[in-house]
Amino acid sequence: MSNKNIILIGDSASKRAEFFTKAAHCQNVDVTIIEWEEIFKLNNPKDFFESRLEGAVVKIEPPSFKLVDLALMDFQLKKYIHIMEILEECNAVFLNTPKSILNALNKRYTKKILSENKIEVTQMLFDNVHSSEQLFDMMQKANVYQVFIKPVYFSGAAGVSAFRINPKNGQMRLYTSCYMENGRLFNTKKMNQFENKKEIADFLDRLIGLDVIVERWHPKARINNFIYDLRVVYQFGSIEYIVVRTAKGPVTNLHLNNMAIPYEKLGFSLNKYNEIDRLCSSAVKLFEGMQMAGIDIMLDSNSLKPRIIEINGQGDLIYQDIYAENKIYGQQVQKCENMF
Ligand SMILES: Nc1ncnc2c1ncn2[C@@H]1O[C@H](COP(=O)(O)OP(=O)(O)OP(=O)(O)O)[C@@H](O)[C@H]1O
Ligand SMILES: [Mg+2]
Repeated sequence: MSNKNIILIGDSASKRAEFFTKAAHCQNVDVTIIEWEEIFKLNNPKDFFESRLEGAVVKIEPPSFKLVDLALMDFQLKKYIHIMEILEECNAVFLNTPKSILNALNKRYTKKILSENKIEVTQMLFDNVHSSEQLFDMMQKANVYQVFIKPVYFSGAAGVSAFRINPKNGQMRLYTSCYMENGRLFNTKKMNQFENKKEIADFLDRLIGLDVIVERWHPKARINNFIYDLRVVYQFGSIEYIVVRTAKGPVTNLHLNNMAIPYEKLGFSLNKYNEIDRLCSSAVKLFEGMQMAGIDIMLDSNSLKPRIIEINGQGDLIYQDIYAENKIYGQQVQKCENMF
């Protein structure tokens, strides 16, 4: 093994840690894992980081939260953000800096910076909603009857809700992987649908309390009657991997019983690939300190124009890759080696 030591802040039992370490060992490089679980117990994380990270190259994986209660997730997330802010001050070299990861995690910030720079992105409609009644009213005034409501900081589709109102008869439908019980929101691994107005209003009132943004629900392209979008892993200035995520409903995340297919199945020309590459490149440039990103991109249903949904500074776990070439992590290890 070389004496250069990469530090992975993560969870050693996770697939992320397992396959990153595998990629490193293939290149004769050591990886030391610092467990998030230990970090959360520390009284003085700053001193700990300073003694452990000095001179190291560090990759930060997300903690493996096992929570399903959205209020508890929110609480845990705030602790995570606080620690990431402390990490940012440390004298280490990061694959993705904590700040760039946090900037991307913040959907409000991401949306703002992308649209200010004229990058095609799902449109933010409302950023200051306080209740379901207000939302219904705002939708009517804006003449928009299909929206996505998303907690600003969550990931893994937790809380993400696709909502439509029929303007003719006021009928409502809401799709989400969550449900509400005794006034609390819980995340699940399957999509649920609600049609009852009171039930939807109660659900939304609770969700909106978590701090949300409201976006236009853009119709996504289809293949063989499945809706799809793309998860593009873009690192070190080029596309490393594209997974097409196909779904029967409006939310395509793969843990929700959706199916991944290879990008080649879409039958696009090289021009489309280059268009996606340019979009990723100009977006990632806006996040200083970010060398790797998992970018969610949808193609408009009619024009097939690519549009960014969101950017994940830790969005590089692709099962189709780790069980095959493991090239995403392989490239990262190589890059880390050059960063010492
Ligand atoms: N405005 C939108 N229009 C159409 N579809 C959308 C829109 N916003 C989100 N979606 C769908 O919902 C999915 C989840 O949204 P998003 O990626 O923003 O949530 P997330 O919780 O951050 O996901 P993850 O962290 O797992 O990537 C998207 O992959 C996409 O399929
Ligand atoms: Mg996403």
